[in-house]
Amino acid sequence: MVVGSGIAGLFVATRCARAGLSTLVVTKKNLSDSSTNWAQGGIAAAMSNTDLQAHINDTIEAGCGLSQPEIVEMVVREASERIEDLIASGVQFDSNEDGFDLAMEGGHSSRRILHTKDATGAEIERALIVEARTSPNLELLESHMAIDLILKDKSAEIKGIAGIWILTPNGEVRTISAQAVIIATGGAGHIYRQTTNPSVATGDGIAMAHRAGAEVRDLEFVQFHPTALALPGERPFLITETLRGHGAILMTSGDLQKWKESGGRPSEYSFMLNHDSRGSLATRDIVARAADQEMKKSGENSVWLATSHLEKNVMKERFPTIQSRLEKHGLELGVDALPVAPAAHYMVGGISVDENGLSKQHKPYSNELQYPGLYAIGEAACTGLHGANRLASNSLLEAVVFSHRCAEHVIENVSRNLDDANLPEWRADGLSDLIEHSPLRSDRIALQSTMTDDVGLVKRDARLQRAQRRLELLREEVDRIWRGSLPTQEVIELRNMIHVSRLVTAAALNRKENVGLHHNLDYD
Ligand code: SIN
Repeated sequence: MVVGSGIAGLFVATRCARAGLSTLVVTKKNLSDSSTNWAQGGIAAAMSNTDLQAHINDTIEAGCGLSQPEIVEMVVREASERIEDLIASGVQFDSNEDGFDLAMEGGHSSRRILHTKDATGAEIERALIVEARTSPNLELLESHMAIDLILKDKSAEIKGIAGIWILTPNGEVRTISAQAVIIATGGAGHIYRQTTNPSVATGDGIAMAHRAGAEVRDLEFVQFHPTALALPGERPFLITETLRGHGAILMTSGDLQKWKESGGRPSEYSFMLNHDSRGSLATRDIVARAADQEMKKSGENSVWLATSHLEKNVMKERFPTIQSRLEKHGLELGVDALPVAPAAHYMVGGISVDENGLSKQHKPYSNELQYPGLYAIGEAACTGLHGANRLASNSLLEAVVFSHRCAEHVIENVSRNLDDANLPEWRADGLSDLIEHSPLRSDRIALQSTMTDDVGLVKRDARLQRAQRRLELLREEVDRIWRGSLPTQEVIELRNMIHVSRLVTAAALNRKENVGLHHNLDYD
């Protein structure tokens, strides 16, 4: 059973099915509603042996030394084979006369980003969906939402997975047996007010696994992308880092004015030079915090991405997705400066897994004990690759490397004979009397405000403690609704978002140093 249908979910599912395992993918909207589908920049991969060590070093440097070196090495070394797999699955990366057309992004010391114009994720998703739809042994359940995992024996010290409860589109709960459950549900950008993530990113898999006793880690490292299009009344729209790789420069309105008056190279006017010698291509943690700081200083709602010094036709040809979005707002690449601001983009932390994506049981139960049958891959997992800050375009790579390893592990270890034990029915432990409840929309907004204001890019202990108190009140309120109503997607998501928000806040309070994406002014 695979939950989620981005690169991680579809890649693992097609491999398991190909090996003859009876495989089911459950996804809460359409197959293509995934963060993968919205990924613009590309997939980082050292395609020549001479680049391997540099990619390893860049990843470790971006992660501020908290990455697990053996995992970094493994992922970087397996990259080229997984790229070949994606190509065999029908993915078409852009190429030129020298081979792959490799792009540059922040924190990389060389051009190593494979891409399909500025819609790489959509191309990967397209190809994997075609493969999944024609795969034997693979059943695809769209508009079905996972609710909770079913354990083999709730009271046993060593846990095991027996199945999962899912909500069907007509509101019924189905109980499904599974030898293995692979969580590939992506991140939780929607716990924040501003996010580059699609609406499905509500932390469902992380919450579900943690409730079932799986270990989570590194959740304090929430990555904010520095350049989301910031237009009044519009939801943030990702402006890929590759645009900076092609020469776009971050500026304040004051920098833009000075550049206009004095001319010369735009990079010399960028506020980024006061923060890092790499300027607009410093790693994301640095760029996002610098932009936030400048916005707080100026009181403006954005900084600006200058593009007027770049060749208009080349930019439009290379970034058609962005250009088509900009056109709706009367903006043009190669002409206008784009208003951009940081937005929640990626959860570095997640369900703690080993090198095959197998999860672990959470500390009160054990110390580093494997969790048989429960896997996590993609953004929902924490593998140790990213450390304290993910290097740009390493996420699709991590997803495909771990999906492959996870598939091999499942194929080898999971029995084909489903032992159809008597699984408990949903709410066998009883539903309280149904209660009337007010719309949950206001609770969701309150949650997002708390996380944005108190657990955002820059933190303080007192604010984190205030967030904990507010989240606890929300938890009580939503728990009461949860126990007294029939499940709906809205209530399941809110319950999960509160669960993950509490984990993120507790992790932020626990970290007593400033490193990578985690910045608490009390520890400056
Ligand atoms: C981007 O295109 O800037 C996003 C890529 C990533 O998050 O790695």
